[in-house]
Amino acid sequence: MSAIDGEAGEHPSEGGSFADAEARSARLEQALQREPAAHRVLTGDRPTGPLHLGHYFGTLQNRVRLQGLGVRLFVVVADYQTITDRDSPASLPEDVDALLADYLAVGIDPERATIFAHSQIEGLNQLFLPFLSLVSVAEIGRNPTVKDELSAAGLPAMSGLMFTYPVHQAADILFCKGTAVPVGKDQLPHLEIARLIARRFNRRYSPERPYFPEPDALLSNAPVLLGTDGQKMSKSRNNSIPLGATPDETAKLIARAKTDADRRITYDPVNRPEVSNLVLLAALCSNRSPESIAAEIGDGGSGALKRLLTEAVNEHFREIRRRRAELLQDRGYLRRVLLAGNARAREVASQTLADVRRLMHTTYG
Ligand code: TRP
Repeated sequence: MSAIDGEAGEHPSEGGSFADAEARSARLEQALQREPAAHRVLTGDRPTGPLHLGHYFGTLQNRVRLQGLGVRLFVVVADYQTITDRDSPASLPEDVDALLADYLAVGIDPERATIFAHSQIEGLNQLFLPFLSLVSVAEIGRNPTVKDELSAAGLPAMSGLMFTYPVHQAADILFCKGTAVPVGKDQLPHLEIARLIARRFNRRYSPERPYFPEPDALLSNAPVLLGTDGQKMSKSRNNSIPLGATPDETAKLIARAKTDADRRITYDPVNRPEVSNLVLLAALCSNRSPESIAAEIGDGGSGALKRLLTEAVNEHFREIRRRRAELLQDRGYLRRVLLAGNARAREVASQTLADVRRLMHTTYG
């Protein structure tokens, strides 16, 4: 019998639904507060361009908060994931540096957190092979996020790596026995695959004592920020305000943001998504409620709203941008941070791989 046959011991009520994931996330949040040292948080990004305000309010702030709780934090620079849908660009080293500068500028502390590039961690990549044996093609094929990304990339065919990257992502999470993965809703299908792999590995190779913890998503309650065109803010849609934009660039990006014909500014996300998104962003940047921002602008119209927003963004990010620019002046330092993180991640991965080999009976000599 293969590990992917039969679901004995897998409870259909566990997993799948969004409500379950939300409930588990809430419990996880409490557990993290109670016993931070018992957890390992793993999350990361593809180095496909600088991070933007959506990342900042959606996940970066949360990472820094978790780091402050004393949780062990791993941050993966997912460079292999950039070749799922494009050729490895010559700009990759700069893109990685920009990502590192973003991380450090917002307060991820390389002394406490392990920031690493997964292409450099041999043990992590070795896990990909046994993990592939634990899921079926049909299970991967049902993943709606993979389908969405493929259609967003507009490619005629799906590469094998694109198809299987959620399994590779499971290796990112499980190599360090990650227990908590702060992600947005779109990543939940991937997390289900990681959970499935952990469960099946344990059942098949370590039934007495589960080896991998089943990782849970830590869902952010930050509101989803829209881009300047009213769609989800995203690097690939060209509608984002990068963390590192200059004040002038910020003003230009905000000036071209979509609004509507109603002069009076209100906060009404359902009926006025574009205007409300600008109000929300101004609120997040100035620690105020969206309602009070909307009331202040009132009949001032979208021009006044955009002026206030530009000020608020530039003010809120001034210090972060200053640090970011300074960090980018010293690429040698950024590389040292990455090399040190890689070394630490490699140690963790070697230990996990040694255990996995022992459990799988592929240790010789
Ligand atoms: N797929 C994630 C993204 O596109 C990045 C990522 C790679 C990741 N490996 C991960 C996120 C592991 C969480 C856990 O943003």
